[in-house]
Amino acid sequence: MAGDLQRERGIEEVVAKMSEKTAVAFAPGLEDVVATRTRLSSVDGAAGRLVIAGFPVEELAGRASFEETLYLLWNGALPDKEQLSVLGRDLAVHRALPKVAVEVLEAAAAGRVPPMDALRMTSGTLGLGNGDDRDDALRLVAAFPTIVAAYWRLSQGHELVEPDPELTHAANYLYMLSGEIPSTERVRALETYLNTVSDHGMNASTFAARVIVSTRSDFVSAVVGAVGALKGPLHGGAPGPALDVVFEIGEASRAESHLRAKLDRGERLMGFGHRVYKVRDPRADVLAAAGERLYASDADRDLYRLALKVEEMTLGLLKEYKPGRILQTNVEFYTALLLHGLGLPTELFTPTFAVGRVAGWTAHCFEQRELDRLIRPQSKYVGAEDRTWAPLEER
Ligand code: ACO
Repeated sequence: MAGDLQRERGIEEVVAKMSEKTAVAFAPGLEDVVATRTRLSSVDGAAGRLVIAGFPVEELAGRASFEETLYLLWNGALPDKEQLSVLGRDLAVHRALPKVAVEVLEAAAAGRVPPMDALRMTSGTLGLGNGDDRDDALRLVAAFPTIVAAYWRLSQGHELVEPDPELTHAANYLYMLSGEIPSTERVRALETYLNTVSDHGMNASTFAARVIVSTRSDFVSAVVGAVGALKGPLHGGAPGPALDVVFEIGEASRAESHLRAKLDRGERLMGFGHRVYKVRDPRADVLAAAGERLYASDADRDLYRLALKVEEMTLGLLKEYKPGRILQTNVEFYTALLLHGLGLPTELFTPTFAVGRVAGWTAHCFEQRELDRLIRPQSKYVGAEDRTWAPLEER
């Protein structure tokens, strides 16, 4: 008897401790909750610092090829010549799409599906392989540019451009979009962008991918989930609308009234604010510098000047409308400018973000696979209690 009582008390204590723990851990939006360890990237929101596998983003983004960044994320060190050439070759052979992928893209184009949805639908067809993680990862990273470029060309009624195995990953993406071999400057600008967005701590899409792999599911499923998460306007869907605002404003003298009207209507200004950065997003600076170079050489310089004015005005107005909130320029504002300078239509901004971020997603999938720990948080129940069942005819 005494033993039973003791055991019951013990159980009560454990339950009480669990409830206590649940109450303390409740964090809506998981803000400030540390869910895992990672070697891939570190985001210091207070200092405005992003480190990718040991390299500050300013050090890496403008120098590395996309293939070097991918190797770094997957292997934890920069490749030597031989390792780089093997990875380049492996990617090149996985660029072509299976027949079923092209059929999905054709159906999506006929239905005028938004490009991110076309990417989500088509990515799922890449899981027809042997279930090997490295094969899946290669196929995903290699085929993302092919999917985006093919979808764009189909939706414009153009012939598809086959991938060119002689070109690098970034050069080949621009080539498949336009059918023209891009200049070195344009390739450099795109690589800087892809490297800059390749990984960024435990953002929503990366978390989604890790949750899926944590159930011992496959990488293709994880990346399809991540694409769905990236699509939302609070995550990767902001750059198109951010540039639209610059176009709507048209000239600097109209900036203030236009932005005020948006804020008066309670709208959010896309390209500003961040959950983690409480100072300027360091990626904005890297992309601003790349944009400065690109617009100086071969794009619309006036648009760039106008965008800088819009940025300045927005920051001033956000201080006025949201006093006490620290709302700074985020990566999306300069993403929009840079990708526009590269000739990409706004509809392709978020899919191009995915072309870069799939490097980080797959690297996180490898890390999560190694960790092999199911991600399964708790929820706090706030619904009704002790209801009694009423038969259908009495309701
Ligand atoms: N414009 C106007 N007001 C804003 C903005 C903005 N861009 N961002 C935040 N606020 C306001 C909110 O309305 C809120 O005001 P309130 O307290 O008076 O209601 C306050 O600032 C705090 O906002 P939260 O939503 O709590 O901040 P959170 O940290 O959750 O949001 C987010 C971060 C979602 C990025 C937000 O700043 C936003 O919506 N920005 C615009 C969309 C955008 O640029 N997204 C891309 C982010 S970068 C990336 O994911 C790659």
